[in-house]
Parts: sequence; C-alpha cells; structure tokens
Amino acid sequence: EASALVLGIETSCDETGAGLVEVFGDGRVRLVADVVASSVEQHARFGGVVPEIASRAHLEALTPTVRRALVDAGCRLRDVDAIAVTAGPGLAGALMVGVAAAKAYAAAADKPLYGVNHLAGHVAVDALEHGPLPKPCLALLVSGGHTQLLLVEDVASSVREIGSTIDDAAGEAYDKVARLLDLPYPGGPPIDRLARAAGAAARDSIAFPRGLTGPRDSRHDFSFSGLKTAVARWVEGRRAAGEPVDVASVAASFQEAVADVLTAKAVRAAAELGVDTLVVSGGVAANSRLGELAAERCARAGIRLRVPPPRLCTDNGAMIAALGAHLVAAGAPPSAPGFGADPALP
Ligand code: KG4
Ligand code: ZN
Repeated sequence: EASALVLGIETSCDETGAGLVEVFGDGRVRLVADVVASSVEQHARFGGVVPEIASRAHLEALTPTVRRALVDAGCRLRDVDAIAVTAGPGLAGALMVGVAAAKAYAAAADKPLYGVNHLAGHVAVDALEHGPLPKPCLALLVSGGHTQLLLVEDVASSVREIGSTIDDAAGEAYDKVARLLDLPYPGGPPIDRLARAAGAAARDSIAFPRGLTGPRDSRHDFSFSGLKTAVARWVEGRRAAGEPVDVASVAASFQEAVADVLTAKAVRAAAELGVDTLVVSGGVAANSRLGELAAERCARAGIRLRVPPPRLCTDNGAMIAALGAHLVAAGAPPSAPGFGADPALP
C-alpha cells in the first residue's frame, strides 16, 4: 500500500512541536513521532503567554525538536515526502519562526510545503487515534485561545464555524480563575485536580452562572467572562467578610459550570444539525469533568463521542502533520511559495 511521510511543524503559541505522520493510500494516518518543547515555565510568572518570550523560545527549540522527531522516527529529512506548518491563527512572531523554518527545510530538501490552519489541526489530530473523521462531524474546539463549535464537512477544505465565545475562551477562564485562587498557570490542570478530589457533591456547592443559556440567547455561542466575574465576586466577598475560601468547592463549581454549558450546547447543536459524531479537542478537552459529562450526554443523545488523548489535545506537531497528511492524501496542491503567517486566520 503506497504511503507518504509528512513532517508537521507547530509554533503558534508557547509549544514548539514537530511530528511525523504516515498516510496510506486509503487515507488512514499513523503517528510515527511527536516531540514537543514547551516554554510554558518561562511564562508562568506572568500568568499568561508573553509573545516575545515565545518567539525566542521557538527559535532556540525548533531545530533540535525537528531533529529529535526525525531521530525518533529513524529517518532523515530526505525521507519525508511533504512538510506542513501552522500558518495561523496564533502569535505573529511565533508563527513567523515556524513558517520561516519550514520554508527553509522545504527549500533545502526540495519538498512540497503546506501552510495550514492550527484550529483545523486540533480536529484533524483525532484521526490518529480514532481513524478517518466521518463527514460531516461536529467539533467542539476548546483551548486557551479558542472556544468554537465547528461543522466539519472536510477538515482541510470545508469547516464552518456555527458558534464561538463572545468574550473569554474556556481555557482562558480556567487560567483567570486559577489566578484568583492563587493556583499556578496554566490553570486547567490544578483546578481539574482539586475539583476531582472534592467529589461530586462539591460540583453544585456554589451556584455559578451558565452564560448564554437563556431562551433569548444565541444558541451556539459561548460566554465565560460573566462566570469569571461571578467567581471573583464570590471569592472577594468571602475574603472581605474574613471567611475562609474553600478553594476546592470553588474549583468544582466553576468546572461544573464550564463543562455543563460546553456539553449541553455541543450536544444540542449536533442533534439540531443531524450530525452523529462529536469531536472534542484543544487543551481543555483534557478536562476530566468535560469528558465525563460529554460521554453521558452524547450516549443519551445517540451521538458518537471522539476525544483525542490528552497529549494530542494540547498543541503539538503531530496535529499539523495529520492535517498535512490529509491534504497530501486529497492530492491538494502545495501552498504558494510566498505564503505568510496569518495571526488572524479564521
Ligand atoms: O490547546 P492548548 O494547549 O493551547 C492553546 O490555547 O492553543 O490549550 C491550553 C489551555 C490552557 O488554558 C489550560 O489551562 C487548558 O488548556 N487546560 C485545561 C486542562 N488542561 C489544560 N483546562 C481544563 N482542564 C484541564 N485538565
Ligand atoms: Zn491550540
């Protein structure tokens, strides 16, 4: 069976990723190597990603990360059949490091180069775990920068946004609430851990608002800034009254509010559109309660749920290689040589 090997390069935020994916004649993909270098610790004391620091970290990490991926795969750059790189959306300087490097690799080794969409990569990556994506499927993309519902006809050529956050992304809400609670950055993992340890009863111990779920609100859009403000008010109220803040209860109730809204809206959208598969991806897809509630509600609605493993949910090079592999399998032409980085790519 004919196959091609695709190198994927990802530098849109604070993760430098290089992945290798093999694609077969029938469109199936296989993960061959996946190496990620993160600058997250350099950003931690700022409570968020500092673009300048991220760009410099990519410049230092990129060549060693690509080399490591090739070594892991037991191959050389000349064995690669195509290269894919994140062209956007993301931080401008960070994207430019990856695009410039990918152009250099492609020129040096005379390989076709594809500039691809980071968000589509978050969806495409699931094919590495669960096989080719059904057409159509619905994707709930939840990360530090994005919260969207996408109707995916073809992950490389036909993706329609049917809903998105009107303010904060879900991951951003996690990071901001973690900060309020004096928990480390990024806030998702520690809040998830505390909430899980607190048990089921803690989930409803504080009634936090569910944004945009009123009868007159947009059906597929999300809002998390009101939730964040409600958590801040609650915590400040306690502190002002000299009462202790039960961090685990706050974490569990906040987490429940986020998971409730995300899963309710995704399942309703899938039912309305008559789509039978929901893919949940992006960094927040690693959340334990989100996975649990999505499984419960999808089962009840007769919807197949696909969640990539946590390592593939967060930013990585394999997701870009998977999307590149999809393009190669579809016989898509490479990007125009002059393509640039587009921080606002839709
Ligand atoms: O997709 P990602 O790695 O980077 C982008 O934003 O593109 O997502 C990072 C986000 C952060 O906001 C982080 O707090 C959140 O994902 N996150 C989680 C969990 N693990 C990471 N949020 C909730 N629960 C988790 N277990
Ligand atoms: Zn991402």
